Amino acid sequence: MTEQRPGKFIVLDGPEGGGKSTQVERLVQRLRDEGRQATAVRDPGSTPVSERIREVLLDKRLPEMDVRTEVLLYMASRAEMVARIIRPALDVGLVVVSDRFVTSTVAYQGFAGGLDPALIRDVGRIACAGIEPDLTILLDLPVEAGFARLRREHDRIESKDRSYHEKVRQGFLAMARAEPGKFAVVDATRSPDEVARDIEEAVKRVLR
Ligand code: TMP
Repeated sequence: MTEQRPGKFIVLDGPEGGGKSTQVERLVQRLRDEGRQATAVRDPGSTPVSERIREVLLDKRLPEMDVRTEVLLYMASRAEMVARIIRPALDVGLVVVSDRFVTSTVAYQGFAGGLDPALIRDVGRIACAGIEPDLTILLDLPVEAGFARLRREHDRIESKDRSYHEKVRQGFLAMARAEPGKFAVVDATRSPDEVARDIEEAVKRVLR
């Protein structure tokens, strides 16, 4: 069950190359300009333990990991981030903006990796202990367009093949269709300014 807290929790998620990290920064800055207290996190990461787990998850020198290992590591990283940062921030009324969350595990390890999405959500409930996003903004774009924007070397997950990433995209879209009240889908192929405008509109829905 979702517990009511004074803060708000907003997630930006989606396939690779959609500009999530830039938009998370812009949104937090925008909220602060409006006089709200806001903070950004990136999942996996943001705490010392979570950043260490992130290194393991994205290390290309490591052999292929079982998909269950991947799920449990993403969730362990997330449990630490929720306990140390997100829950305390929501308790004192901050707006928390996260670059990815449980929806990524459902899309990557579930829809693309083959594990049952319902099972992943159950593990997510254990990891997040009652914390759920008030809104998830899906920055949607075709796989080719996303990869064209990734100029750096690909990490372990980005190196998976094109059909994996197509399933990731379709998984995100299926989640948004299934729960339209919890998602806003934004076309991320457009300019950063246009995308930021749509994100602001969507955020107004939950920050009244
Ligand atoms: P990033 O590119 O947003 O920093 O995320 C790191 C990579 O990890 C990216 O390729 C997506 C992948 N990922 C998963 O496979 N499952 C997850 O639960 C999360 C949060 C990310």
